[in-house]
Amino acid sequence: MENSIYGKYRDALPRVMRAFTGQVAAYSEKAREEAGEGLYEHLLSRVKSEDSMREKCRRRGLPETPESALGELHDAIGVRIVCGFIEDIYENIRRIRELPGVRVLEEKDYIAKAKPNGYRSYHMILLAEAPFEDIRGDNPGHFFIEVQLRTIAMDSWASLEHQMKYKKELGGNQALITSELKRCADELASCDLSMQTIRNLIREENQGLNRKE
Ligand code: GTP
Ligand code: MG
Repeated sequence: MENSIYGKYRDALPRVMRAFTGQVAAYSEKAREEAGEGLYEHLLSRVKSEDSMREKCRRRGLPETPESALGELHDAIGVRIVCGFIEDIYENIRRIRELPGVRVLEEKDYIAKAKPNGYRSYHMILLAEAPFEDIRGDNPGHFFIEVQLRTIAMDSWASLEHQMKYKKELGGNQALITSELKRCADELASCDLSMQTIRNLIREENQGLNRKE
């Protein structure tokens, strides 16, 4: 496509994305073979659509160019890793930090410190090296990847909240809806902690049994 906002770099993006998700899937598979459990429940990835990227550039007051989309903004490539348990999120973070060719540029821990609306997730901005020319003319090039790590509970909350954010006709119930959403987010967070505790108990139990055998 001649007039893609990603210009001649467009075809590299899905490849860079797949290379990264392949690395993540590989370490999770390895963990599954070694310990019987993978490190996440599911993984989603996408290259931001032309329309959303153009809209984001306009919103940020940036020209609709490949330089803005790939140099100024960091989420042309987005990956969401959805985990069963909170501790798995931090295990994924440790593994991602050690991936070859991947540098962590920025991290935001909205789990330790939730957003005021209740949003929870761990965000990383990565710079991944890949065998394609990048916006600065380097080859191998470097490409930004935004990674969001969440539990299933955090993910379900974020999906619902996202849907509601775009329904502007909420009218007079806005304040109530906002505070109820926040309450749900906090309840889900409390469940995540309980689930983690239950898993730890089960693991201790199993280790105890193994020792007795
Ligand atoms: P963006 O302009 O969206 O990139 O914001 P930012 O650069 O301040 O980054 P931040 O890490 O806060 O958010 C990046 C992405 O996280 C968003 O595009 C959403 O996908 C997700 N996100 C952040 N906050 C919320 C929230 O309150 N609700 C939901 N549903 N998603 C959120
Ligand atoms: Mg962002």
